[in-house]
Amino acid sequence: MVRQRIEELRRALERHNRLYYIDNAPEISDFEFDALMRELLELEAAHPEWADPNSPSVRVGSDLTAEFRTVRHHFPMLSLGNTYSLGELHDFLDRIRRETGREAEVACELKFDGTAISLTYEHGSLLRAVTRGDGTEGDDVTANVRTIRTVPLRLQGEGWPDYFEIRGEILMPYASFDRLNAEREAAGEPLLANPRNAAAGTLKQQSSAVVARRGLDCTLYQIAGDELPFRSHSEALAAARSWGFKVSDKMRICRTTEEVDAFIAHWDTARRELPFPTDGVVVKVDDFALRRQLGFTAKAPKWAVAYKFKAEQALTRLQSIDFQVGRTGAVTPVANLEPVLLAGTTVRRATLHNAEQMAQLDIRPGDCVYVEKGGEIIPKITGVELAARPADSRPFVYIDRCPECGTPLVRYEGEAKHYCPNQGGCRPQIIGRILHFIRRKALDIEGLGEETVELLYDNGLVANASDLYDLRPEQLAPLPRLGEKSAENIVRSIGRSTEAPFHRVLFGLGIRFVGETTAKYLAAHFRTLDAVMAASREELVEADEVGEKIADAIVDYFADAGNRRIVERLRTAGLRFEAEAREQASDALAGKSFVISGKFLNHSRDELKELIERHGGRNLAAVSGNVDFLVAGDNMGPAKLKKAEKLGIRILTEEEFAALLDRGTRADAPPAAADRTAHPAHPAPSGKPSEETAAGEAPRQGELF
Ligand code: IVH
Repeated sequence: MVRQRIEELRRALERHNRLYYIDNAPEISDFEFDALMRELLELEAAHPEWADPNSPSVRVGSDLTAEFRTVRHHFPMLSLGNTYSLGELHDFLDRIRRETGREAEVACELKFDGTAISLTYEHGSLLRAVTRGDGTEGDDVTANVRTIRTVPLRLQGEGWPDYFEIRGEILMPYASFDRLNAEREAAGEPLLANPRNAAAGTLKQQSSAVVARRGLDCTLYQIAGDELPFRSHSEALAAARSWGFKVSDKMRICRTTEEVDAFIAHWDTARRELPFPTDGVVVKVDDFALRRQLGFTAKAPKWAVAYKFKAEQALTRLQSIDFQVGRTGAVTPVANLEPVLLAGTTVRRATLHNAEQMAQLDIRPGDCVYVEKGGEIIPKITGVELAARPADSRPFVYIDRCPECGTPLVRYEGEAKHYCPNQGGCRPQIIGRILHFIRRKALDIEGLGEETVELLYDNGLVANASDLYDLRPEQLAPLPRLGEKSAENIVRSIGRSTEAPFHRVLFGLGIRFVGETTAKYLAAHFRTLDAVMAASREELVEADEVGEKIADAIVDYFADAGNRRIVERLRTAGLRFEAEAREQASDALAGKSFVISGKFLNHSRDELKELIERHGGRNLAAVSGNVDFLVAGDNMGPAKLKKAEKLGIRILTEEEFAALLDRGTRADAPPAAADRTAHPAHPAPSGKPSEETAAGEAPRQGELF
C-alpha cells in the first residue's frame, strides 16, 4: 500500500515537474505540488528501504558533502572551432559543400553561455552527470545535477537506447543570477562576475541543497551513444524532446548561406530579450551520414563551427576621471560617463585600470569612448572614437600625487598601478584597512559600516583597528546618526569580535596578498601569531600555498614598528592569537614520529601533519635516528631518502600512510571520518582517475560521429 503510494507520488511529481518546467503548462498549483512533495518526503523518510536516487524528492537537495569523483567520459567531449568572422563562417559552409558535393542542410542553434554537462542514462534513468573537465575526464556532479528541475530523472515516452549520453549546457538564467548577487551583496560577499561563472561555481558546491536553491537550468543539444536509431541531428533532438529533455525550440534547419546569415543577424539582437545568456550561434551539419564523411580534426568535429557574437558595446562621452585610492594605496583611475544603456543596465562608471592602459588608448576627458561589458562586473573602456575628438583636446597627463593626501605617488617593480606610499596618513587607506578588519570574513563586527567608520575616523576616535577596542558608548552616542542604542550595540559587537578564530584575525590584519585562504593555511601551519611573526622568509614558504611574494609581504608587515604596536594592542584587547587546540581523534599513532617530505596527490603536507598530530603522532622536521616513518611524496630530495634508507627508517607512500592510519584507527575505535571537516577549507578533493582508466585505451567515439 505505502509502497504503491510512494510510486504513485513519484510518477505524479515527475509529470507535474515536467509540465511546469519543460512544457510551461502546469496543471496544478504550486501549493498542490508542495503538498504532494511533502507527502512523498514523509513516506520516504519513514521507509528508507524504498529509497531511490532518482526520486523527484532529490530535487530539494541535501546537505551531505558532495565529493567529486573524476570520471572518464565514455565518448570524449570535444570542443568546437570558433570564429568571430562571417567570412570564416562562409568558408566553413563552402568547404562542406565542396567535400560532400551537396547543399548540405545545417542546423543553426544558439550557443548557450553556461557550462557543459554530459548526462548518462541507463534503462531510462539518470545514472551520472559529469562536467566537461579536460574533455576526456570530468567531475561527477550527479547529486547536484539531480536538483535541476529541467533534468529528467526518469525518461518518458519510448525508443530511448538502453545506454546513452546526452550533452548540453547548464545555465544560470539572468533572474537567478541577479537574485544570487543581490543576496551576496546583502551578505557582504564578493559578487559573481557573470552567469557562466556562477553556473560553473554552483555545480561545484559541496551541498546540493544550495544548488537546489540557485535556480539552474539545463538545455540539451547533442546525443552520443552506440548505434543510435537516428539519421539526423534534428531527428535525434526531436526524440530527446519527446523523452522529456529540455531542447531549445530556437533551432532552425538552413539550406543556404543567406538563411544562416539571417539566423545570426536575428539572434545577434533578439538574444537580448532571452532570459538566459548566449554568446553565439553553433552551425552543425544535420545529416549523420555526412558528418561521418566529414570526420574530425584532433580536437573538434569538422562538421560544426561556433560563430561568436561580439561583446555588446556602447558609445558615450567620458565626462571626467576620478582616482580611487584603495586600502593598499593602489590608485585606480575611474571614468565618469554620460549614462548609457548597455546589455540591460545603465552604465555610469567604468574602470580605466592604470596609467599605462590609458596612455595606450590615448584616452582624454571629453572623448567619445566605447564601453564594453566583458566577463567582469565593472564595464571597461575599450577604445576612443577619434573622429569625434574635440579640436582643442590635449593628451591626458596622469597624476603624480595622491588625490587624497598629496603625497608623491610611486611605482613598484612589476606592478602596473601607481601607489600612494603614505600608509599611516592617507585617509582612504586608513579607513579601508579598518573596513577590511571589520568585514564579515575577518572580525565580523556588525553595526559598523563605511559611513560610521568614516565618522569615527573624522572625529578622531579611531585611526587603526586596535583603537576600536578602546571605544566607549558615551563617546559614540553624541555622534550624528548614532545615539545611545546603536552606540551600545556597536561596542557590544566589537567586544564579541574577540571570539573570532585566529585565522580570521590574521586575515583581518590586512597583510598584502594574505587572503582568507592563505590566512587559514598560515594558522594551520604556525598555530600562533607569535610563530608567524618570528618566522623567517624561508620558514614561511614551508607553509602550504605560501610563496615568496606572500612571505615577503608578511616579513615586511611585521618589520613595521607601527604594525607591531597595533598587533600588541589587539593582543591586550584579548583577540585570539592562537589556533584552537586540535581535537584528538585517536591514539593510533601514539609514540610514533614522522617526517613528511615531497608533494602528495590527495593531501597537502600540512594536512598530513595535522592528521598525524590528531592521531597522537609527532612530526619532526629532519630525518634522524628518532624518526620512525618517512612519508615520501613526489619530488622529495634524494639525499633525504638516502639518509632514511641508511637509518633503516620505514618509508611510506601516501596510500601506505593512509592504510596505516586506517588500520590503527579501526583497532582504536573512534572513526576517522571527522578528519576532513576539521581541516581548513581546502579545495574539494577532486579525486584521481583509477589506474585502469587513466592508462586505458583511447575513448570510443559515439557511433553518431
Ligand atoms: S555542440 C562536438 N551546441 O560551446 C560539439 N555546443 O565552444 C559539441 N555550447 O563545449 C558541442 N551551446 O559547451 C554545441 N548549441 C550548442 C552549444 C554548445 C553552447 C558550448 C559547449 C561546447 C562549447 C564549444
